[in-house]
Amino acid sequence: MRPMSCASLVTLATLATAIPFDAKTQRISTSGVHKFMPPDWSAGHVRGPCPALNALSNHGHMSRDGVVHWAEWARATNEVYGLGRELAFFLAVYGVFVAGNGTHCSIGGATPLIDTSILGPLGLPPGGLTGSHNNYEGDASPCRCDLYKCGEAHRLHVDLFTALYDLRGYKGYLTYDDIVTHRIARRKDSENTNGYFTAAVIAPIAATGAFSFIQLFGNHSEEYPDGWLDGLFRVPLRR
Ligand code: HEM
Repeated sequence: MRPMSCASLVTLATLATAIPFDAKTQRISTSGVHKFMPPDWSAGHVRGPCPALNALSNHGHMSRDGVVHWAEWARATNEVYGLGRELAFFLAVYGVFVAGNGTHCSIGGATPLIDTSILGPLGLPPGGLTGSHNNYEGDASPCRCDLYKCGEAHRLHVDLFTALYDLRGYKGYLTYDDIVTHRIARRKDSENTNGYFTAAVIAPIAATGAFSFIQLFGNHSEEYPDGWLDGLFRVPLRR
């Protein structure tokens, strides 16, 4: 199994992939320099709405402070999660322009760690992904609340996670259809409860990624070459 997974909480069968399983080349390190280390909040480290990017920084596959150059961002999402190179490049470059300083972006909110000199003497710290509402971060996310409903849109909401988790039902694992079911429910809920709900041009693209990318957390093995997700968001559930 790829060791990128956290505690075994969710089992999710991912869509079939044309890429054959190879334990050696596909192994993702979570030890040594890639050992899990929590962010150092006192040093200004940032984390934000994307669990995948948070994990990459927690494991040192990207800068541990969460202020990331577009090139390391594109490389890490390609190498660790298998995001296609073109998509990884686009998402990273788009990010540093709409939420960063043109070269770097905070995967969380604004932070003095980002170099604003490139933006000129009046350059304010860019808002990062957390501050990118409707430019990157959007409404009706899988497990995050809507900004104008909850006042923040980057924290994990366990009730939303549980709604997704429970869709596994008797199967014991989630399918892509379950993820689509969750997406429809989240969209309806936002439309009904968020008076400022927005599905502008950019937001649906990010939201589509947020849902469909859940599959990329899947672990691959000889037994399950198409991937299973057996850990998601490190949510401690007591039942
Ligand atoms: C350059 C690559 C990426 C960027 C810039 C990015 C950015 C974001 C942003 C801005 C959000 C919030 C979206 C919203 O509000 O709806 C988000 C959410 C999310 N992202 Fe990413 N992401 C990237 C790659 C990935 C990858 C590779 C995965 C999976 C392995 C992933 C999984 C998710 C998930 C599951 C959410 C939803 C979180 C929740 O609602 O609890 N992302 N991402």
